[in-house]
Amino acid sequence: MGAGTFGPPGWQDDPSWRGWWGEEPPFRTPTFVLTHRPRPPLPMEGGTTFHFLDAAPAQALEVAREAAGGLDVRIGGGPSMVREFLAAGLVDHLHVVQVPILLGRGVRLWDGLEGLEQQYAVEVVSTPSGVTHLTFTR
Ligand SMILES: NC(=O)c1ccc[n+]([C@@H]2O[C@H](COP(=O)([O-])OP(=O)(O)OC[C@H]3O[C@@H](n4cnc5c(N)ncnc54)[C@H](OP(=O)(O)O)[C@@H]3O)[C@@H](O)[C@H]2O)c1
Repeated sequence: MGAGTFGPPGWQDDPSWRGWWGEEPPFRTPTFVLTHRPRPPLPMEGGTTFHFLDAAPAQALEVAREAAGGLDVRIGGGPSMVREFLAAGLVDHLHVVQVPILLGRGVRLWDGLEGLEQQYAVEVVSTPSGVTHLTFTR
């Protein structure tokens, strides 16, 4: 995940910040946080350890792949970090959930990625609530 997902702006200045998820985060696996201001690893309850990395996407993926020992690596967000991985061609499967709530502002996931859909098979599933699932599979 990116630094913007791990905490609110400026969390790097708060040594007591341990993420949004309490003492037992739901990840239960080594979890890598990309930040330009890394800190030592943070072991949590339930199998999650947060590791803080200042690395290019390909390097970060290599580190996560090694930790995964042959299992899949999931890139969790937010939008700035996902965009970097997409631009570098490192994503095999993308699941975007679109919710019909109009915030009217925010970080743009697709900026600079024109034509990306041509590299993927795209499937769309809508639900009665208006939530729409888009999957991109390479
Ligand atoms: N709806 C959702 O599921 C969801 C999920 C996540 C975020 N969000 C929201 O999206 C908004 C913006 O999020 P965001 O795009 O800023 O979040 P983000 O992608 O999680 O974080 C971006 C930050 O991660 C660090 N980073 C990214 N790539 C890096 C690299 N290669 N090396 C080192 N550091 C790297 C940088 O932080 P530093 O330079 O500060 O270290 C960068 O500013 C926020 O409002 C957030 O609440 C929503």
